[in-house]
Amino acid sequence: MIYPLKTPLRNRALSTLIVFWGILFSTPSLSQDAAQLYTNYCAGCHGARMEGNSASALIKTEWAYGRTNDLLVRNISYGIAGTEMGAWKNVLTEEDIQALADLIVQAQNTPFSAIRELPGQIQTNHYVLDVEVLAEEDIETPWSIGFINSELALVTERRGTIRVLKEGSLNPEPVMDTPIPFKTRFGGFLGIAVDPAYEENGWIYLALCESTIDQRDPSAPAMTKVIRGRIQDNTWVDEQTLFQAPDSLQVAGGNRWGGRLLFDGEGYLYFSIGDLAEADASQDPHRVPGKTFRIHADGSIPADNPYVHEPGALGAIFTLGNRNTQGFALHPETGEVWSTDHGPMGGDELNILKKGANYGWPIVTYGIDYSGKTVSELTHAEGMTQPVTYWTPSIAVSSAAFIRGTQFPGWENNLLIGALAYEEVRRLVVEGEQITKQETILKGFGRVRDVKTSPDESICVLLNNPDKIVRLTIAH
Ligand code: HEC
Repeated sequence: MIYPLKTPLRNRALSTLIVFWGILFSTPSLSQDAAQLYTNYCAGCHGARMEGNSASALIKTEWAYGRTNDLLVRNISYGIAGTEMGAWKNVLTEEDIQALADLIVQAQNTPFSAIRELPGQIQTNHYVLDVEVLAEEDIETPWSIGFINSELALVTERRGTIRVLKEGSLNPEPVMDTPIPFKTRFGGFLGIAVDPAYEENGWIYLALCESTIDQRDPSAPAMTKVIRGRIQDNTWVDEQTLFQAPDSLQVAGGNRWGGRLLFDGEGYLYFSIGDLAEADASQDPHRVPGKTFRIHADGSIPADNPYVHEPGALGAIFTLGNRNTQGFALHPETGEVWSTDHGPMGGDELNILKKGANYGWPIVTYGIDYSGKTVSELTHAEGMTQPVTYWTPSIAVSSAAFIRGTQFPGWENNLLIGALAYEEVRRLVVEGEQITKQETILKGFGRVRDVKTSPDESICVLLNNPDKIVRLTIAH
């Protein structure tokens, strides 16, 4: 629960309203009557703000049973066989059902978050946190942040730009001469990472979507690529390719690009590539999709990677069966790489990456496909590694970061995770390889794309829709 503290009265009134039913349905374009119907009949399963509860969210891009007006009316009227979703035509009039369908359609375009102002402070179980918005006007779909030091950071925007964030303010000029990515709806520029020895070598690492066949044709085969370069005078120079799939391994019509990057404590660079909608390829070490990878900083392949000796297999593979790894976090004590895998409906996972492990996608999963089809009956199988935890219903897990240092006493080694659909930053208490507690510390202000701890030990959050860069510190 978020309480606005010491914020201007206007904000406080606004936020208080939101805590109740409020904003969405007090917007003049949305019907109060429909909102009341929704509260009475639907909110119990689909969530007070359509965010999902025992049943799926009703604000989403992937609909299991159809999103057109006719299909919504049909599904509400006749229910969905074999589920808890009943036939509401026995309870509600045709007009009521139409009003509910309209409400659902309108809610897609009026996200709760878009009309909510971030409070100046939020209350968590242990702390009051100051919330500082570092950028909002001049930023578009920020995807990943990499810190050079506590004053200087780089932010990717998905459209294909790198921005410099210096002392908390964004350089209005993007870095010049960066490569042009393959243009696809969910792709572009993805993860960014800074070399652990940046002070000596200046290397910046970038994951992006690329087609070696035709960059401008969205239906062309393409793949996630990893490069590095340096930034001099706000210009990208010295580019080198570290990982690039040959033409024959690129995938047409792909979706779920992965693209997170992380250096571990030994200087290995990890990156993820999602299943590109070719789920079965996730089990095939000769194909790229659905894996995590480990390389040296110069792109060479570590001699002890699990598939280096298998003919035709990709030597960079570190783990298999990962649907769409959207977060990597380095455990401050064990040095292990923890990862968050964006699953199908109901199958978001938290994993610890173990060399050569197979995390099972799509043979075993806790989720079902967004089409409503079963992906697999199995949640366990011999030789397939179980997640540390999983989230049902899906929160649409994105990024992850461990809390380091002493800035947040009591939260040492806790894991922060971001969620897109649930618009959350959660704090997970980690004991050994178990999660013993979860607390939502930020919710409902936008899709959380990235969460990182800065070298100054504040928490940095990248929000999408509305797009923002936000810093959280303990209020004094
Ligand atoms: C008892 C729980 C329950 C209630 C109450 C309920 N639903 Fe559902 N609803 C479900 C379940 C279960 C599903 C199917 C699986 C899922 O989407 O989680 C579903 C599915 C749907 C879908 C299809 C979602 C998609 O992805 O295609 C719509 C639309 C929907 N419900 C609307 C409503 C509306 C409007 C109301 C109120 C009149 C309502 N539901 C009340 C449980 C419920």
